[in-house]
Amino acid sequence: MDLLPGLLLVFVLAFQACSSGFQLQGADGPLVAQLGGSVLLPCSAETPLPLEELEVEWRRTDSDALVHLFQEGEVRPESQNEGYRDRALFTGEIAKGNYSLLLSNMTTEDAGVYSCNVYTGEESGDVRVEVKGFEYLVVNGSDQAVSLHVGEKVTLNCSVDSHAKPERMVVTWKRTDENILVLLFQDGEVLSDSSHERYRGRAEFFTSEIPKGNFSLRLKDVRTEDKGEYICEAFSGPLSANTTVTLQKTDVPPRILVLMLCVLVLVLTVGLSIPAVIHLKKKDTGLKAMTTHLLLVFCPNIILSIALFIYGLTVGKTLAAVINILRILLLFKTAPYLERFCERIKAFMKNWNVTLAHLVVAGVLNSGKE
Ligand SMILES: *[C@@H]1O[C@H](CO)[C@@H](O)[C@H](O)[C@H]1NC(C)=O
Ligand SMILES: *[C@@H]1O[C@H](CO)[C@@H](O)[C@H](O)[C@H]1NC(C)=O
Ligand SMILES: *[C@@H]1O[C@H](CO)[C@@H](O)[C@H](O)[C@H]1NC(C)=O
Ligand SMILES: *[C@@H]1O[C@H](CO)[C@@H](O)[C@H](O)[C@H]1NC(C)=O
Ligand SMILES: *[C@@H]1O[C@H](CO)[C@@H](O)[C@H](O)[C@H]1NC(C)=O
Ligand SMILES: *[C@@H]1O[C@H](CO)[C@@H](O)[C@H](O)[C@H]1NC(C)=O
Repeated sequence: MDLLPGLLLVFVLAFQACSSGFQLQGADGPLVAQLGGSVLLPCSAETPLPLEELEVEWRRTDSDALVHLFQEGEVRPESQNEGYRDRALFTGEIAKGNYSLLLSNMTTEDAGVYSCNVYTGEESGDVRVEVKGFEYLVVNGSDQAVSLHVGEKVTLNCSVDSHAKPERMVVTWKRTDENILVLLFQDGEVLSDSSHERYRGRAEFFTSEIPKGNFSLRLKDVRTEDKGEYICEAFSGPLSANTTVTLQKTDVPPRILVLMLCVLVLVLTVGLSIPAVIHLKKKDTGLKAMTTHLLLVFCPNIILSIALFIYGLTVGKTLAAVINILRILLLFKTAPYLERFCERIKAFMKNWNVTLAHLVVAGVLNSGKE
């Protein structure tokens, strides 16, 4: 009667001795390594294990390749897989239960799951450590220089792509030529107060765009002295990357050219109206009078069309710009002065210019540039 529980107890103890190993401590989560750098694969026992019977084996779980081995009191580099020779080292104190492995010269092929298997006599334990991906940091800006218009706003592009969350990076915008700080992002917030006084209150990020890695700089109330070279630098741990953007002043800003053309239109209209009215009063229908009328109708209209065309292009409204330049063609169609042109132009204007105008508009619409 007393025998059965006793047997059971022995059996349970034996089973425990076989199955229950010791606890090994691995990594808290997947590891992110640096390409070309090194990564520590942690593996340690809570209490040191006697070295005599100890065997520590690091393997890749996918290929079963032996990454490193500690056996009979020493490391066994000769049994290592070719690919890991000289790249994998036990760094911790094995005698103190630290079986961590340092993998260096990491390549993309080193991503994967590693297992740390520890045996001592009958006991064993294992823990898995995953190298999930690699650290990277890429910063893009804009290829062309950006033109500034005094008093207006301007955006300097800087997009950051990284394994790390944008909120955890440090991003700075600086003037490279004068080495002054324009704007700083650190510890998840924009530190506007650290901006140089010349930019304080005028420089900002698109805050809602930051989680997408868009660290573009918005500069308000642009001044002439803002022109120069800007650098956007991102830092994430040991990595850093940058892009430079040039802010330049265009020689004749298109808007000023448009304004000048408009003034010219005004001057021409007024200037030509005076002789035209004089001719009208005299009921003069001579060549000179008719030429004056013709100039009054055509010159201001053509110049205005050109001005609106340039304006349309500068604000990126291609379709509107094209329609404006086509007004010139339509002007010829409706003008009562058509008689005065030579035959060929007349025939063309009468028959084709509306068709041509429609074709051009259709072409622009099709190219999707409106
Ligand atoms: C690791 O990289 C360094 C420099 O990049 C090189 O000198 C060394 O030979 C490499 N070691 C191995 C084992 O590939
Ligand atoms: C094991 O050793 C490595 C360096 O050799 C060290 O960074 C790590 O903290 C050690 N682990 C424990 C649990 O002591
Ligand atoms: C800035 O980025 C936006 C969006 O990617 C792009 O449309 C624009 O052309 C860029 N500006 C410059 C000057 O590169
Ligand atoms: C960043 O966001 C702003 C505002 O939405 C946009 O104008 C700009 O083009 C974006 N830049 C990039 C590089 O995506
Ligand atoms: C940066 O530019 C490269 C090449 O032009 C492109 O492949 C990459 O997607 C861009 N990255 C970002 C974050 O815009
Ligand atoms: C910007 O990045 C390049 C490499 O892309 C590096 O050579 C340069 O030193 C960096 N500039 C600054 C100011 O950090």
